[in-house]
Amino acid sequence: MISFTDYLRLLPKAELHCHFVSVMRPGRLVELAAKNDVLLKSTDVDELLDYDNLVDFLDVFNAAHEVLVSPDDFATVAYEGVLDAVEAGNLRYREYYVNPFNFLSRGISYETLIDSISQGLAQAETDFGVGFRLIPAINRSHSAQSAVELVELVSAHPHEKVVGIGMDDLTPEGLEEPLRFREAYELAGRRGLKRTAHAGETMAASAQNVIDAIETLGCDRVDHGYRIVDDPALLRRALDSGVPFACTPLSTRVLSGWAFDDQHRIARMVRAGLPVSLSTDDAVFFRTDIGLEYTAALPSMGFAASDASQIALTGFDAAWCSPEEKARLLADAAAGIRALDAALDNPALHTPAKEPTK
Ligand code: ADE
Ligand code: ZN
Repeated sequence: MISFTDYLRLLPKAELHCHFVSVMRPGRLVELAAKNDVLLKSTDVDELLDYDNLVDFLDVFNAAHEVLVSPDDFATVAYEGVLDAVEAGNLRYREYYVNPFNFLSRGISYETLIDSISQGLAQAETDFGVGFRLIPAINRSHSAQSAVELVELVSAHPHEKVVGIGMDDLTPEGLEEPLRFREAYELAGRRGLKRTAHAGETMAASAQNVIDAIETLGCDRVDHGYRIVDDPALLRRALDSGVPFACTPLSTRVLSGWAFDDQHRIARMVRAGLPVSLSTDDAVFFRTDIGLEYTAALPSMGFAASDASQIALTGFDAAWCSPEEKARLLADAAAGIRALDAALDNPALHTPAKEPTK
């Protein structure tokens, strides 16, 4: 027999919204900074990770890229990141955001970057059976022209694991403004790349940002997307699109201060019927892991075992791997869930979530 917490931790998981530098262990971050002569805001991890808004967090996030220098640094971080997530939450598949321009500016080429990360992740796939894909990301703090250049760079160097593009950070004005990057997204579509984008994340964003990402940028998936529940008409359009959302509970607690209850925007998204999966976003920076995203958030949001297993399956369903790999992942996940359902010690937790309190 297992507890509900163990059930949630052991659910087979696909993580679709995860920034590569953020899978670094805290100790490795400080150690690599020392090895590669990088001056961080602080070498005290508690001080380094002390922020409560997106802008301050992004400063530390961008600085952390500098600690990665040699191909070995990338491969080690990649490998350890998988090992840790398998132990913490039974990770079976993951897609990683990578910001090439954060590395190109220091002379690390796109090919070296992708090859070094892939090497570590391929070794981890051999050892732990965790599949992966990579998503080069537009950095919104750079210009719209640089976004087009990113898409050109990605299409000039095809790689079997690079399947689409994403977009993170904020504009220099502190906004999401998806439409500023329309040309890059249109080009990505013409080049056959999948598309996702961070949209509707914090209080500075809107439901319209989410709809712009889906309807104008042509996104196949949306990262975050929480503000969509603020506008019933736009929520309807998001539902009709069928586009899945990769949500990250712990980051919302740090960056927006949202409590984990049945009125949390992620809870409302799930209840509205949007296809929602859970991810860590930035594990090291929000002191989370893929197990904790489920165990800390879902019971407090009012979800039962059947809701949690559906959320886990949505992660596999929304993955950008090949149809064959997806079919295998889904079959394995379904078998894992059946075994966990049989082992759960409290049958009441199999029931769907109750109606939320108003
Ligand atoms: N880059 C890394 N994490 C991010 C987040 N949560 N929002 C925007 N950009 C990011
Ligand atoms: Zn993110």
